[in-house]
Amino acid sequence: MQVEVIEPHGMCAGVNGAIAKALALAKARPEGDRSPIYCLHELVHNEIVIGELRDLGFRFVERIGEVPRGATVVFSAHGVPPQVRAEAERRDLKVVDATCPFVARVHRSARDFAEKGMEVCVLGDPAHAEVRGIVGEVEAAGGRALAGPAGAAAAKKAGGAAPLGVVAQTTMNSDEVERAVAELARARRVKTMAKVCGATKERQDAVRRFCRGAGPGAAVLVLGSKTSSNTRRLAEVAEECGARAFTAGAMDELSRLDFAGVERLGVTSGASTPERFFMEAVRSLRRVPEHVAIIMDGNGRWAKARGKNRGAGHRAGAKTLERVLDWCGERGIRYLTVYAFSTENWKRPKAEVDGLMALFARMLKTKERDFVANRVRFRMVGRRGDLSPKLLSIVESLERKTEAFERQLIVAISYGGRAEIVDAANAAVARGEQVTEETFRRHLYAPDVPDPDLVIRTSGECRVSNFLLWESAYSEYWFTDTLWPDFSEADFDSALASYAERDRRRGGV
Ligand code: IPE
Ligand code: IPE
Ligand code: MG
Repeated sequence: MQVEVIEPHGMCAGVNGAIAKALALAKARPEGDRSPIYCLHELVHNEIVIGELRDLGFRFVERIGEVPRGATVVFSAHGVPPQVRAEAERRDLKVVDATCPFVARVHRSARDFAEKGMEVCVLGDPAHAEVRGIVGEVEAAGGRALAGPAGAAAAKKAGGAAPLGVVAQTTMNSDEVERAVAELARARRVKTMAKVCGATKERQDAVRRFCRGAGPGAAVLVLGSKTSSNTRRLAEVAEECGARAFTAGAMDELSRLDFAGVERLGVTSGASTPERFFMEAVRSLRRVPEHVAIIMDGNGRWAKARGKNRGAGHRAGAKTLERVLDWCGERGIRYLTVYAFSTENWKRPKAEVDGLMALFARMLKTKERDFVANRVRFRMVGRRGDLSPKLLSIVESLERKTEAFERQLIVAISYGGRAEIVDAANAAVARGEQVTEETFRRHLYAPDVPDPDLVIRTSGECRVSNFLLWESAYSEYWFTDTLWPDFSEADFDSALASYAERDRRRGGV
């Protein structure tokens, strides 16, 4: 199955703005303050976002009366009716308004129509928070709102000479809005501001484009929550265009979908779906490994074949690593661990060892800017005490500066798989711990990093050479004769393609 990303997809500016406001509130709380921050209605309709906000101390309520006096309340991106604003003021609530600016514009139009004495037809789902907010706006201005399909039918039937104001929920199917407005206009005079938001329309149009060019084996996967109106609309648009549509709100739901018979799968996501989930889903559909580890071998032989010294081979190898890190970023691989120097490599001639340590220091210093610009977290695994104080301080300073980033480059220096196991065992003994596989893992050098999915070794040697002995228990291995400095993007893709074909039974059947 070919998996294609449909562009544009995912979060819109309104959702991003609402989440940024909520996160800023959580961040501004004094240390140790666990008092809840209230949010009227789900901030955005996405279960992953809501789960993360709950973990930060947000409490979601459906009525303003549930918010205790004087507390902080966030109005969700879908907006609220003016009656709720007034109630919040009466209850002395500290209000943070995360209403999407486009929704706020619809409120203003609806109010204008009502103030001019027009009846206002609100296209959309009358049970949705956004429509309820708009209806409230019309009523607060002394007008009459006709909401949803029943409202539209009543507005058509009423006819008459007085113009009808028409607005729409911003996340409707754009074709449906056009059709509904045209029908109303045939029955009576309308003044319309009914338009779905630009981001919603762009995402729907992108699905239409994908479906138009796709054959009978094509399907669309929409990532987002069932509660999200714009997500559901994307699936409807795909079906209208004759494609099969699948939806998933989280990874476990995705894993239960059956794509049998699908040859081309276009993947899109709703305006409130986090991009991190989108990337993880695409990676799993394409069977891209989350963690790749590489034994970068063959620098010395590469140099020898060119009549150069071994140091030149190591410098060429360092350039290969820079390229591989970029390829990982482009393919959505989250962790790259590379074996740069083993506990056994200390027995090499002093000149080679000194040259390697100097190369590590130089690389880490000159690459700092790139790590930050590309949002790559750098970490070292290995025996830190074996490094010179100067190199260790460069390593640890770079680790601190990049620790907030998600994508990771983990460099194994003075690393041995046996040393790591011995160090972990000693750490457990020092705490008087009887270990299990799970608790033992906590003492490894990078306990939070998942085990490597794929281990690559270059230079034709088919051995592990003391690399990630604990972590690679169920890793897939891929060997190539190519020497590390020559390792190309095509080699990397061959390794990934081989991985994608493998059946990882992990002892099962
Ligand atoms: C791997 O290349 C890099 C390090 C061990 C530092 P080698 O230096 O092992 O190169 P070969 O295996 O001698 O060709
Ligand atoms: C493994 O390569 C270590 C690194 C690539 C850093 P070696 O070249 O040291 O391993 P052997 O000696 O071939 O097993
Ligand atoms: Mg070697």
